[in-house]
Amino acid sequence: MVDRAEELNTPEETGDVGAAVVQTIAVASGKGGVGKTNVVANLAIAMQRAGKRVIVIDADLGLANVDTLLGLNPTASLRNVLRGECSIADTLVEGPAGIRLVPAASGFEELTQLSQEQRLQLLGEVDSLEGACDVLLIDTGAGISQNVLFFATAAQETLVVVTPDPTSLTDAYALVKVLATRYAEREFTVLVNMARNDWEARKTFTQLTRVTERFLNVGLTYAGFVPHDAEVVEAVRRQQSVLDLAPGSAAASAFTALAARMAAPREAVAPKGGLQFFFQRLLAGQAG
Ligand SMILES: Nc1ncnc2c1ncn2[C@@H]1O[C@H](COP(=O)(O)OP(=O)(O)O)[C@@H](O)[C@H]1O
Ligand SMILES: [Mg+2]
Repeated sequence: MVDRAEELNTPEETGDVGAAVVQTIAVASGKGGVGKTNVVANLAIAMQRAGKRVIVIDADLGLANVDTLLGLNPTASLRNVLRGECSIADTLVEGPAGIRLVPAASGFEELTQLSQEQRLQLLGEVDSLEGACDVLLIDTGAGISQNVLFFATAAQETLVVVTPDPTSLTDAYALVKVLATRYAEREFTVLVNMARNDWEARKTFTQLTRVTERFLNVGLTYAGFVPHDAEVVEAVRRQQSVLDLAPGSAAASAFTALAARMAAPREAVAPKGGLQFFFQRLLAGQAG
């Protein structure tokens, strides 16, 4: 449970500016079906259990599914926010362990290509969540659409999900390449999902670094791996997180370990800043 008293202490009151820093992580992959949404949902729950206040933003704006994955029934979504019908705080639905979700809406084509104005509106809204969370986890769509690139650049950290599948590696490379060459992103964190074992996961990571080191000026940090686990498939079917359905499973342990790793300071993470930073960074991007 979240300590209420702690929640009410603003940085001014505690004199601890670091406490206000919101960690923003965008989860992206290039290829679809590699497990991004599962990573977001389970990582969010694991981080919340570790004492963080986590808000998930479902930024797969055309095909939302974090809510479906967790069996939630949101009444409002980002679509309503973009239409000016409610604020982002009004859309929050509570999920397992007390995580909160800003749902996207499925099946609205207009959301797959946001205008510049809509993006800025969205960031202003996201900025208003500052103080309400410690971690903002953003699930993005497949491919390298403007929406995906937008969220990946706005967040402090991009967690790239790959699988040992060669096409996943190719697509992850394409994503890193466009973020590096067009948006000057330099640091990426890489999670290998659906690996058979540690050896295969490390091999996958090495394959990716071999090409990025050769052709791009970027640094990749290995965040570990989540094994291919039938319990994940079953959890998806039952609309539960694997952490809840099978807490003793290999995948659940991997997500708990990942949460600890993501919370620990790592060199690859961009300079500190709160959601304000998220906003400003984007404005700087627009100007450039
Ligand atoms: N670690 C895993 N082990 C086994 N199956 C997995 C794992 N991660 C994901 N999957 C399977 O892959 C499917 C797609 O995952 P999803 O998170 O929806 O991918 P994405 O969001 O990247 O499109 C899931 O429905 C699940 O069946
Ligand atoms: Mg998804």
